[in-house]
Amino acid sequence: MKKRIVTGIKPTGDIHLGNYIGAIKPALELAKDEEYQASYFVADYHALTKMPEPGELPQLTNGIAAAWLAFGLDPNQSILYRQSDVPEIFELNWILACITSKGLMNRAHAYKGIVDHNRQVGKEVDSGVNMGIFTYPILMAADILMLKTDVVPVGKDQIQHVEIARDLAESFNHHYGETFVLPQFQVQEETAVLPGLDGRKMSKSYHNTIPLFEEPKKLQKRINQIKTDSLPPEAPKNPDESTIFTLYKEFASTEQVEAMRARYEGGIGWGQAKKELFEVMNNYLEEPREKYNELMASPQKLDEVLVMGAEKARAVSVPFLKEIKQKMGFSL
Ligand code: ADP
Ligand code: TRP
Repeated sequence: MKKRIVTGIKPTGDIHLGNYIGAIKPALELAKDEEYQASYFVADYHALTKMPEPGELPQLTNGIAAAWLAFGLDPNQSILYRQSDVPEIFELNWILACITSKGLMNRAHAYKGIVDHNRQVGKEVDSGVNMGIFTYPILMAADILMLKTDVVPVGKDQIQHVEIARDLAESFNHHYGETFVLPQFQVQEETAVLPGLDGRKMSKSYHNTIPLFEEPKKLQKRINQIKTDSLPPEAPKNPDESTIFTLYKEFASTEQVEAMRARYEGGIGWGQAKKELFEVMNNYLEEPREKYNELMASPQKLDEVLVMGAEKARAVSVPFLKEIKQKMGFSL
């Protein structure tokens, strides 16, 4: 039997280059592997922890789905769905919540990070924390366990969550008998954390992103905002310490990368380096951008794909939830 891989992306803002390089690109490579059955979903209920404005979520959800498809995800081969279209996940969420110790959630890093920050700035420790944020790892465990997932490709920041899913699966199996597959995380070690315009990790939270599908003019403007030092054009530069070069590497061919490395060492002006980064990036993104715009202009088509994906996911989740409940002693 094929191994199952599952991963999700939250629709909390415009998708950016970091999301593509860190999450979408490696996941698409796995999806092409005959050994795997890939299921990728838009984690729209996870986005509720940020309390989106009414009506905001559908557009953001479509944006994530369109991005997967624009970069070549084949919805007939893989499963692409909205989390909220698979209600069994939320029933399982409650079942798992009841075997999760509160202490485990206290230690989950997203929550702990907020608490630490609140302490530092002298606020009430739980200020700004809703129960969705606190119990977030349980819902993520339900996403993973509901589809009998073997492998979860994620960024480093998500490893702890996959480990929690595995712990909960083990607890359940121990108490009610062998039921859940124990999932493993898979982190693409060679995929560096992509830097943003200011050199820190590219992230919506830092407002330093390059959105994936920006029009060429805006893309160029963003690239021009990348922070550089004040070395003169002719001075040799270290490519490995340059955000421009790090981004260039992701979009240029091996020969182009080698040539650019040599030019850094011989001295290249930042303006010129930025211009060439724009060219390779725009070239790479042109076709997906066109496809993305087409998809976003036909939400009905997107909806059809997502509904078909949910049906395929539910072909697993409906009978499996029944089995889970039987194990617990519910008479069905
Ligand atoms: P953000 O930090 O912008 O809020 P998310 O936390 O929603 O991004 O991340 C969605 C996915 O994209 C995750 O798998 C995450 O590991 C990956 N990702 C986000 N930013 C980067 C980055 N700068 N480099 C590599 N991967 C990233
Ligand atoms: N928590 C993940 C993130 O912030 C998104 C996510 C939700 C996810 N459910 C998942 C990832 C299940 C992998 C598997 O990026």
